[in-house]
Amino acid sequence: MKVDDVIVRRVWDSRGRPTVEVELRAGAAIGRAIAPSGASTGRGEAAERRDGGSRLGGFDVSDVLDHAGPLLRAALVGLDINDQAAIDRRLRELEPDKHHPMIGANVTIATSMAAAWAGASAVSRPLWRHLSDTLGGPARLPLPEIQILGGGAHADGRLDIQDLLVVAPGASSVVQALEWTAEVYLCAGALLQEGGRRGGVADEGGWWPRFDSNDDALALLTKAIERAGYEAPNQVAIALDIAASQLWDGARYQLRCDHVALDGPEMVTTLVGWCDRYPIVSVEDPLAEHDAAGVSAFTRAVTGRVQVVGDDLLVTDAALVRSIGDSVTTMLLKPNQAGTLTEAAAALAAARAAGLTVIASARSGESEDVTIAHIAVGWGTEGLKVGSITRGERTAKWNELLRIEEAVVASGGSFVGRAALRGTAAAPQADQWSTPRNGNE
Ligand code: PGA
Ligand code: ZN
Repeated sequence: MKVDDVIVRRVWDSRGRPTVEVELRAGAAIGRAIAPSGASTGRGEAAERRDGGSRLGGFDVSDVLDHAGPLLRAALVGLDINDQAAIDRRLRELEPDKHHPMIGANVTIATSMAAAWAGASAVSRPLWRHLSDTLGGPARLPLPEIQILGGGAHADGRLDIQDLLVVAPGASSVVQALEWTAEVYLCAGALLQEGGRRGGVADEGGWWPRFDSNDDALALLTKAIERAGYEAPNQVAIALDIAASQLWDGARYQLRCDHVALDGPEMVTTLVGWCDRYPIVSVEDPLAEHDAAGVSAFTRAVTGRVQVVGDDLLVTDAALVRSIGDSVTTMLLKPNQAGTLTEAAAALAAARAAGLTVIASARSGESEDVTIAHIAVGWGTEGLKVGSITRGERTAKWNELLRIEEAVVASGGSFVGRAALRGTAAAPQADQWSTPRNGNE
């Protein structure tokens, strides 16, 4: 079936900003997707395009869409809707330099994802199964990584750590992992309430942070896991996203909550101290994106205990994964950092070739779009991170994952579970777990 129309539309995201929706039609098949948007973006990621100026804080996309709509139609109408690679190649021709946007990564990713939905619709397959067939490996259910406390750029810098999340390695299904996490979320809310510190939620739905120090927040989360009745880290454990590029002022890491400014080695020491004192099994972007050697030093210091995740460091870029992927254990996969699904799949293949585990991730600016849940399952990523278990743009994805779980289980698929954290305190026997092969190297 051939693409016969491309419709672009301005819709709204979870921060009340305009964003891009693209709809592709091919005969009776229709696919639609909405671009997400980051707040703590990596320097190397594919750049989105906005109108600028004063309207809507410069975030409008009306002009971007007026420009892109006719270009997309000219480039894509007539292509086979099931040839994702050809569609993504055309998008890359319209946007030859990811860092100097002509149409913007917000337009390319929404189009690429819409094409995948339309392709799935054309062959009457659910998207996760279609992605597994075309771009991924064996479908499996990822371990959810869910935010309990928001901080950093998502909470006006009130806490230095950007995300305090939990994972539930002891859970035997997505159903159970979400239920356990919801219990921890409720307990964290109650503890904040008791301390007179409950003040709404941050951008991704985690509790808004009111803490005197980063330790204070880590201690509260540890206590919430205990109060919910789980053994840490065996059943429920802490995962952090430091998003350290946001703390780096060009010379030092400014931990404003702790009233200290640290150099790289001091930052490593501080993070290792947190890993010693709290049941932490995963740390994302421990150091700034320019310091792969520092990240390596941290990874070595916590080997066998903690998974180290590259987000701003690797920006879902296959070439970066090949050159510095060995500084971490895990790649965060954000499709809009790559700009198209084909390029995100190439980064996934590079991560697999480097022996890394992978966590598929949404952005802090999101919508009801659920493509990321299908990507995680279809591509067999070990983890899925979409923010907290509150706010519709987050629950849309978790609830979709619950629906997908029913279908995956019915077709004999499995839940990654504890194996997602191989090589950590939550899954010490690393060698009993194997990494799936992908067919798209
Ligand atoms: P962002 O943050 O979507 O605002 O970039 C998410 C993350 O750092 O993982
Ligand atoms: Zn991150």
